[in-house]
Amino acid sequence: MEGNKKVIFSGIQPSGDLTLGNYLGAIKNWVKLQEEYECYFCVVDLHAITVKQEPKDLRRRTLEMLAIYLASGIDPEKNTMFIQSHVPAHSEAAWLLTCSTYMGELSRMTQYKEKSKNSGGNISAGLFNYPVLMAADILLYQTDLVPVGKDQQQHLEIARDIGERFNRLYSDTFVIPEPYIAKLGAKIMDLQEPNKKMSKSGENVNGFILIMDPPEVIRKKVNRAVTDSLGVVAYNEQQLGVKNLMTILTTITGISIEEIEEKYKGLGYSQFKKDVAEAIVAELEPIQKKIVEYTANKAYLEGIYKKGSEKANYVANKTLRKMQKKIGFIPR
Ligand code: TRP
Repeated sequence: MEGNKKVIFSGIQPSGDLTLGNYLGAIKNWVKLQEEYECYFCVVDLHAITVKQEPKDLRRRTLEMLAIYLASGIDPEKNTMFIQSHVPAHSEAAWLLTCSTYMGELSRMTQYKEKSKNSGGNISAGLFNYPVLMAADILLYQTDLVPVGKDQQQHLEIARDIGERFNRLYSDTFVIPEPYIAKLGAKIMDLQEPNKKMSKSGENVNGFILIMDPPEVIRKKVNRAVTDSLGVVAYNEQQLGVKNLMTILTTITGISIEEIEEKYKGLGYSQFKKDVAEAIVAELEPIQKKIVEYTANKAYLEGIYKKGSEKANYVANKTLRKMQKKIGFIPR
């Protein structure tokens, strides 16, 4: 809590390649938040291991995620960027909070229910406890606001419950976080099945665009995006494919939905799709170049995450010490 700026915390798992949806839905918005808020942007590697990870891939992706944050314009001078496992307080606070969290409330989590359905029977206790770790992430920094998509709203809700319960049991310890709801364009859908959220785990590779997809791949995927036979560029629930492409275009260019409708009146989908593809390429190409540069510069990345973890450790430990004291542990 520096000055009177409100605190924001968010994190992304280094568990797979990021999509255009992750970029437009999360990171691009973070860039706008950094002036107004005190921001913590975390690479949540402890969350990533709730499902099996190949060690060398996890290492590569963790650094790549940091490079993506930087390349997208998150300024390491203004924000605290760090790797979750470099701040042991997260694991420790998660245990303390686990002891006042109920099996019942965790078993109601939609994401857990869905993920355990697909796990072939071997569900790790980590996957079950995942929301408690997320609560620890948030509560340790006395976070005011958490930018979350729809899929994480339930996890934020339980983080609030967990924080409130601790405050009740042991007296006021945590700020109770509120969701920060992004404006238009937060949710990008699958290009092939526009009723589903864009995800790298989608069945059809043409359904998602990866941050690192080369321009020709982006053009091909947008060209193949599902539309409809109406031939009108309009924003409504009957034309989910077109609506999604419009969302992408407005989020990247800032041109309003009305202006887009006006611009493509009578033009059909072909020019529209070309323009959407070019907008994505223009947005991602410079970022891709920077990601490659940052990823190659290990020493620079190391400097960033070490500095980040110093600050994060300081703040998180302060909260953790309070928790320990209130619980009745002997001070070290
Ligand atoms: N669970 C989040 C996701 O999968 C990632 C995450 C972990 C997070 N800790 C967080 C997001 C704290 C916001 C705040 O998307």
